[in-house]
Amino acid sequence: MSSVRPENMERITTRELADKFIAEQIEAIKKQVGDKKVLLALSGGVDSSVVAALLIRAIGNQLVCVHVNHGLLRKGEPEQVIQVFRNEMSANLIYVDAVDRFLDKLAGVSNPEQKRKIIGAEFIRVFEEEARKLDGIEFLAQGTIYPDILESGPVKAHHNVGGLPEDLKFELVEPVKLLFKDEVRQVGLALGLPENMVFRQPFPGPGLGVRCLGAITRDRLEAVRESDAILREEFHNAGLDKNVWQYFTIIPDLKSVGIRDNVRCEQWPVILRAVNTRDAMSATIEEIPYEVLKKVTDRILNEVTGVNRVLYDITPKPTGTIEWE
Ligand code: XMP
Repeated sequence: MSSVRPENMERITTRELADKFIAEQIEAIKKQVGDKKVLLALSGGVDSSVVAALLIRAIGNQLVCVHVNHGLLRKGEPEQVIQVFRNEMSANLIYVDAVDRFLDKLAGVSNPEQKRKIIGAEFIRVFEEEARKLDGIEFLAQGTIYPDILESGPVKAHHNVGGLPEDLKFELVEPVKLLFKDEVRQVGLALGLPENMVFRQPFPGPGLGVRCLGAITRDRLEAVRESDAILREEFHNAGLDKNVWQYFTIIPDLKSVGIRDNVRCEQWPVILRAVNTRDAMSATIEEIPYEVLKKVTDRILNEVTGVNRVLYDITPKPTGTIEWE
């Protein structure tokens, strides 16, 4: 397949067009891979999930999916990958619990770019180890989408941490590489993936690692994960998840004084961020109803261990970036 989208290629906006695309791709994938095996790093994000579902339709268990849990995923994500792909779609899924490995490597590292490098490099290493355990893999599937080719946009460009070693170079299978994100979502729905997977907000490769600011500690990471889950749940309840492009929580590496049970205590603040953007190059702040902010704040203060304040960041980009590091 060429890497240039033909000018006359119809935009996939309906179920019928998605079904047609799926049927064509199934033929193309079968023709490309024959009876050989294909490997896929399945993060659970929209693009890799759609590629997985497409390949499962086309070649079933000739696809081997590897899901690496690096400990920096959001609450419930690894469980959902296992549920959807292994339990519901009967995929050949290897689940790698690499949590300790990543967190040990990251211990004491506070420089954000260093953290990104460690996470990216360790990911490649874990994936490589899994690939070496498997026999007869000749293809590597990837969730490349058209904006990745066009501009190496700000989101995936951060993934550039090198690739697999020379002796593990596989032929690529990239069935959605000419599609825009909205089209990938249409295809995902037509393939029967759950809506909350298909309409997920963008999530950075280094995950919660860049939202647990400075040197990552397990307790602060858990507090980020729990507060993020509360924010997502309340945004969903308020219908905001459909209108806000990206929303998440951050915990800086600092404490402030507060009071719990009449005793002064030093605990972390949680920072809320909710932005809208077209291309992530600039971003505006979504106005969140006060009742939602209050509900989220009350829940975080009641449910998340180690937190005594909630702050709401209303800085647009520029001057702030979307993430804090
Ligand atoms: P910033 O913070 O630069 O973020 O305004 C722009 C978009 O990029 C995402 N982002 C990343 N994505 N790896 C990624 O895959 C990263 O290291 C990374 N850093 C930021 C961010 O979530 C936002 O959508």
